[in-house]
Amino acid sequence: MWTEEENIKIKNRNTRNLRDLLIDGLKDSETFVLLIMSRKKGDYDFPWTKITVRPVEIKGKRFLQFKYFESLKHITKNYEPNQVGEKIIETLSHNFSEIHLHSTEKDLHIKITRKGNVLINKGKPTRRMKPDLSHDRIKEYPLDSKIHIKFLQAIGIVNNIGEIKPNMHGKFVQVNEFIRSIEIMVKKLNIKNRPIRIIDYGCGKAYLTFAAYYYIKEILKIPVNVTGIDTNEDIIAKAIDLRDSLNCEEMAFFISRIEEFEPEETPDMTLSLHACDTATDEAISRGIMLNSKIIIAVPCCQHELHHKLSEPLFKPITQHGILRERLADIITDSLRASILRIMGYRTDVIEFVSVEHTTKNVMIRAFKTTKTCNDIVVAEYRRFVDFWGITPAIQIMLGERFEKCLKNYSE
Ligand SMILES: C[S@@+](CC[C@H](N)C(=O)[O-])C[C@H]1O[C@@H](n2cnc3c(N)ncnc32)[C@H](O)[C@@H]1O
Repeated sequence: MWTEEENIKIKNRNTRNLRDLLIDGLKDSETFVLLIMSRKKGDYDFPWTKITVRPVEIKGKRFLQFKYFESLKHITKNYEPNQVGEKIIETLSHNFSEIHLHSTEKDLHIKITRKGNVLINKGKPTRRMKPDLSHDRIKEYPLDSKIHIKFLQAIGIVNNIGEIKPNMHGKFVQVNEFIRSIEIMVKKLNIKNRPIRIIDYGCGKAYLTFAAYYYIKEILKIPVNVTGIDTNEDIIAKAIDLRDSLNCEEMAFFISRIEEFEPEETPDMTLSLHACDTATDEAISRGIMLNSKIIIAVPCCQHELHHKLSEPLFKPITQHGILRERLADIITDSLRASILRIMGYRTDVIEFVSVEHTTKNVMIRAFKTTKTCNDIVVAEYRRFVDFWGITPAIQIMLGERFEKCLKNYSE
């Protein structure tokens, strides 16, 4: 990424060179995307750990929005472009050790040494998209890669300067968007007198498991216990090592099939992200059986119904492998959602990230309400499975618990 000859060394942080470089960068309305300035560790001559600047549009006029971060809080100030020079001079008088200037054309990574020397590395742009000012914000993630750099580095998503690793972009976005749904549900749960209990089924390398724990405990400041379950012994051993090295005492990991895991206490929230094939059904059915108040599942590859869809009317679709697969995916997820509704969950199905981040981008979110076995939904469900001549895996997994609803309806 770096080319040696593009590196620049400036003698003093207050030289006009650095100041002008930043001011010119910020004023360029065509290319400027984001500026991040981070304080030297252990330097407390001013309260801000970090300052970020981005362009915003307010009532049709371009401003530069400065965010001043202090620990987990921040304050925001919007300045007109002609005030920016003064603000940059003011901020450069403090001991920032790292500055990143992102434009659509290049990235500048600036390090200021203890002696005040300035080293500038030029790199390819990591934010090529022009910011959409009309929305008044660049997409902000709950776990921003520059703000939560230590945590995201520890779980292997970013490198030591907060850049998302090339093969991790999809996972970074998936985990962040998943966290948005978790946050909404945590607020709905409103548990006050004990830690929230979460199980992440098919946790794999546990990116989501750790992110859920960190976000709820460290950012929302809500006590939480998080358990990760997976059949893969190696990845569970690694997750346990990581948990221990990060001192995440309220996390537990177990090697187990989802359907065989018996938690000591009822989970409040059941998660699964890309648990393969019918492992998603295991996760949802375990959530239902254990009376989990919330179930959030993002299904992965599904094979169960691919070769069971023989309804002649649909031959124009089912004769083409790719279309049959997509139809089977849609039917499988519809049935999962219907079963959740029948079992008393208010359920919605959303696209949680755009397809560029993963084609497996359907999220099923369910919140337990009191009403079970709603006759209208049971009737819909029965007509639907009868039409296709199928009994989905999740229905079989739920066994008697589900059969009761069907029976009640027949009577
Ligand atoms: C595609 S990975 C996803 C991992 C993780 N949730 C993520 O999104 O990064 C699917 C994981 O589910 C696990 N898995 C599949 N079937 C399972 C089952 N029946 N019980 C427990 N784990 C299962 C696999 O071992 C694998 O680690």
